[in-house]
Amino acid sequence: IFELAQYPEVLKKVIEEVNTVLAENDGKITYDNLKKMEYLELCMNETLRKYPGLPLLNRICTQDYQIPGTDKVIEKGTPIVISLYGIHRDPEHFPDPETFDPERFLPENRNYNPNAYMPFGEGPRHCIAQRMGKINSKLSVVKILQNFNVEIMPRQDIEIDNHSIAIIPKGGINVRLSKKQKTN
Ligand SMILES: *[C@@H]1O[C@H](CO)[C@@H](O)[C@H](O)[C@H]1NC(C)=O
Ligand SMILES: *[C@@H]1O[C@H](CO)[C@@H](O)[C@H](O)[C@H]1NC(C)=O
Repeated sequence: IFELAQYPEVLKKVIEEVNTVLAENDGKITYDNLKKMEYLELCMNETLRKYPGLPLLNRICTQDYQIPGTDKVIEKGTPIVISLYGIHRDPEHFPDPETFDPERFLPENRNYNPNAYMPFGEGPRHCIAQRMGKINSKLSVVKILQNFNVEIMPRQDIEIDNHSIAIIPKGGINVRLSKKQKTN
């Protein structure tokens, strides 16, 4: 919602999609209906790129590795913390990384490096609640858009607090909503 409030064209598309899918289904929000919201899925993916809830990956080095251009060697067995936040905002992998651009995930655009996109980790220990997390978040966004208008605001970044491993915004995330008038 914080990002949508800064990108009126994107917000408009999400609202249109939500309204269309709900209108075609008697206003019922179901698992299947949420899956039909493909543009919302793009927005969710872009949100998870900019704000991977857990912004790091833990790994263990499997073989001695000399960091190119230095004499530093990471020895086999060394625990490593990788900044996922850094990878997700690296212009080499995601052009114009600060911009909220859900359409970068469209098959015809695909302007990013899919191997660099790991919002739920990768491999046998990736997040097991991935699907539930996404569905819950989509449901919340749909509910908010059904009941509230989102007020547009200027582009801004979240300031991240530094006392937690997770991404915790300093002072919370402020957006302005106004209750929709009920139309009968
Ligand atoms: C969104 O990201 C997930 C990986 O988290 C990927 O499987 C899915 O295909 C992506 N959806 C789109 C529409 O790009
Ligand atoms: C964490 O944030 C506090 C308050 O802004 C600041 O004083 C402190 O230097 C920061 N610590 C680090 C490690 O950046």
